[in-house]
Amino acid sequence: MRLPVDKPLFITFEGMDGSGKTTQMHRLAARLRSMGRTVLETAEPGGPPIAMKIRRILLDAANQELSPVAEILLYFASRAQNVDEWISPALSRGEIVLSDRFTDSSLVYQGGGRNLGADAVAALERIACRGLKPDLTLLVDVDAESSLARARARNAAAPHCETRLDDESIEFHRAVWHAYHALAAAEPKRVKIVDGRTDIDTIERAVWQIVSAYV
Ligand code: TMP
Repeated sequence: MRLPVDKPLFITFEGMDGSGKTTQMHRLAARLRSMGRTVLETAEPGGPPIAMKIRRILLDAANQELSPVAEILLYFASRAQNVDEWISPALSRGEIVLSDRFTDSSLVYQGGGRNLGADAVAALERIACRGLKPDLTLLVDVDAESSLARARARNAAAPHCETRLDDESIEFHRAVWHAYHALAAAEPKRVKIVDGRTDIDTIERAVWQIVSAYV
């Protein structure tokens, strides 16, 4: 099947660390490309080189003193750069954009986990994204305990310094999980939950069942 070439579509993947959302995003990108679509893949924090520099500050385990307000501003600084340099131009060209995390992550981690609240996130979203919202968000769902166990196993297998958030308490990760579910309940048309506890191929089929209705 060949898809029409110029219908822009913005799909985000959300979920706890270690949920497998990144693997699923790459698989979806490959499938869409094999159908003839041009796909931009990006990941937050990050994307363009300037946003990747901001990512290094945000995730560096050495930066324990980073204040919650500075943290949320940096996430949105990275997002603004990603929107302006990569996402909006790609959508204007009629491409499909897939993003591993977007504003919903700030809502659940900073708004929920850090208790900064939804209003602060909405205010920064207005400045950084100027109305750009995902057409569809796939929430790859695993519980907080599994998430933390997977993330820590991954960090132990391949030691690296991007662990500042993984070092947070289980209570923080539970608050994030609850915030994700509150979001899915509040926006059921946009945010679709996919069970992340099954195997990769089963999750991929569940993702495609949802996405195929949009392309
Ligand atoms: P990643 O492991 O999916 O690359 O995400 C990096 C970490 O950053 C992850 O623990 C979630 C966190 N994060 C936020 O706290 N707020 C945000 O807005 C984004 C995009 C990520």
